Amino acid sequence: MSQSTASFDINPLSPALGAEVRGIDLATISDADFAAVQAAWHENLVLVIRDQKISDEDFLSFSARLGALDLAPITVTGKPYIPELPHLAVISNVVEDGQAIGGLGNSELIWHTDMSYAENPPIASLLYSLEVPETGGDTWFCNMYKAYDSLPASLKQRIATLTCKHDSSHNSAGETRKGFADGFTSRDEIPGAVHPLVCQHPATGRPVLYLGRRENAYIVELPDHESEALLDEIWSHTTRPENSLRHHWRVGDILMWDNRCTMHRRDDFNQNTRRLMHRSQVKGRAMAPAYT
Ligand code: OGA
Ligand code: MN
Repeated sequence: MSQSTASFDINPLSPALGAEVRGIDLATISDADFAAVQAAWHENLVLVIRDQKISDEDFLSFSARLGALDLAPITVTGKPYIPELPHLAVISNVVEDGQAIGGLGNSELIWHTDMSYAENPPIASLLYSLEVPETGGDTWFCNMYKAYDSLPASLKQRIATLTCKHDSSHNSAGETRKGFADGFTSRDEIPGAVHPLVCQHPATGRPVLYLGRRENAYIVELPDHESEALLDEIWSHTTRPENSLRHHWRVGDILMWDNRCTMHRRDDFNQNTRRLMHRSQVKGRAMAPAYT
């Protein structure tokens, strides 16, 4: 897409989703350019905004133009990342004085939507890259509108009014969060929110698949074995390469993604290299079912 009214460049990154934005400074963005960024974001689901050099405060102020900010998710240790900036999460593998300075630091992250286990998950997440390895640690995104649209009609019908449990006890690196039990003897013990499997996106009105993450997820209305088989079938349509975008990071990238209609995952990377990102999240509301 190119925008004649905007003072910056927008170029699509893949047929599935995502666009790159150049020639803009998010610390000083005008109202008109902000409106153009927001429109491009709704259209492309993920924006990669290049060449930013921005303070934490300006990063949070820009994020807050999309809506009130959410607190950073609880860390594995239960402590905030930066006590003075409780809305800022640090995503890093860097260890200083024997202490990890951030969360989700090591290795691969599985496909997920941020905080779908909350009753009111964030509408957006923004990730600002400060240090990145030369290779590895790429972040992948998939388009959950297209995932829904690509399902066979019979499957769409079958899942139209089902709901799914989203486990809050583990993060996307598979670690158990502070204060949660590990290992469940029955699925009824799994904590977390229940959301419709097919939601209506409040900004676009379009039906969207809402899966959260695969681990410990189950369909409330179905017995376990049927739920497992159905979730596996749905997932097999969702994260295909033709429905994905692969992002290789440069320092100064700010990525903003619509957390209601995308999932993301991360490739492994060499743990002897440094990777450091700051993240913000914009508060949202539970989405309504697309069908009742
Ligand atoms: C996140 C996340 C991906 C990455 O911050 O929510 O999933 O590439 N990060 O670090
Ligand atoms: Mn995430």
